[in-house]
Amino acid sequence: MTCTPGQPCEEGRKRGRALGALLLMAAIFVALSFASFVKSRTQVVPSDVHYANFDAVQGKRVFQAYNCMGCHTLLGNGAYFGPDLTNVYEHAGPAWLAAFLPSAGGWPTRPAVQVHLADADQQADTGIKDMDAYLKKFPGAAERIARRGGHDSYMPNLPITGTEVKQLIAFLKYTSEMNTMGWPPKPQVDGLAFPQAKPFPQAAAAPNAGAAPSPGAPQAAADPAQQGKELAAQLGCTACHATDGTKKVGPGWGGLFGHPVRLADGNTVTADDAYLAESIRSPNAKVPEGFTAGVMPAYDAATVPDDQVKSIVAYIRSLQGGGQ
Ligand code: HEC
Ligand code: HEC
Repeated sequence: MTCTPGQPCEEGRKRGRALGALLLMAAIFVALSFASFVKSRTQVVPSDVHYANFDAVQGKRVFQAYNCMGCHTLLGNGAYFGPDLTNVYEHAGPAWLAAFLPSAGGWPTRPAVQVHLADADQQADTGIKDMDAYLKKFPGAAERIARRGGHDSYMPNLPITGTEVKQLIAFLKYTSEMNTMGWPPKPQVDGLAFPQAKPFPQAAAAPNAGAAPSPGAPQAAADPAQQGKELAAQLGCTACHATDGTKKVGPGWGGLFGHPVRLADGNTVTADDAYLAESIRSPNAKVPEGFTAGVMPAYDAATVPDDQVKSIVAYIRSLQGGGQ
């Protein structure tokens, strides 16, 4: 079918209309492509989200380097061995994350989180120094402490440094601030029978298990080493330290007392009372060979009074040989 010159032509008009529609679509396509490059459409930009002088882009690199996605999902992408991490910063907050990430093999206790409230970066981020105020702002931290605090976790310890912890927090802060339109949905765990959905039996039996040991508690009669053992568990030390000679996140305590410790700077010191006490107050002062500074938090006298340090040292002293 061809058009005769000079005659009205149906086919030509159709072709014109199709071409017009095509040009319109092309224009819309180009306009939308440009729109996708417009910086922020009510979305946060990773380089604008900071924690402790680090931005979320740096945190993303750490997240990739440790292959966190091999076990976790973000916005539903990734693997399903661990929980989705998109909103974990918003729920649990930076102090809980700072306590959990370097010693992820164990769930932080209340004092283990509290020690991170003294961190200047944490204070600059949340404006909070007080533990009760922190738990009010981040109920997810209170819930995690009550449900799992002091128990082993299913996540392995990874060799994350102090700097990397802060970078990861910057990244998780960013994913929390993203507008995800309600993703991920709240999991419906009511009535499920698997153990993770319920508090640990011990946690339910002892509601105060995660509470801070009170400095004035009547402890005089008890054996200091026994007190030290309980304090080390309550404070969350044993999330990082094995009581035998095994290396966990930090050096094992078994057989440590009275023995020489080789330091990263090449010197050797003897692990006496003074060295152990100093290691608790200022862990970065002397770093044993094979470990990095900045992983263990410093416990000041407000968190762990002198008599508690003495008890813990007595406990470490008692762990000769294999420990228990
Ligand atoms: C080998 C698997 C594995 C890897 C790798 C891993 N995780 Fe986990 N993670 C887990 C599991 C499993 C849990 C849950 C632990 C439990 O329920 O006891 C968890 C829990 C967590 C939690 C607590 C979540 C919550 O809602 O309470 C955070 C935060 C977390 N992981 C962050 C990370 C980050 C950041 C990385 C990378 C640096 C990482 N994980 C790498 C397995 C892993
Ligand atoms: C987040 C992990 C972590 C926590 C929690 C932690 N430590 Fe440590 N600790 C380390 C690391 C890592 C080192 C080695 C590097 C250093 O000295 O900073 C260390 C070193 C030590 C040493 C020196 C050991 C040696 O072989 O020379 C002592 C003693 C010690 N910690 C006691 C404690 C006590 C007591 C607590 C609890 C009040 C505690 N730690 C909590 C990670 C931790």
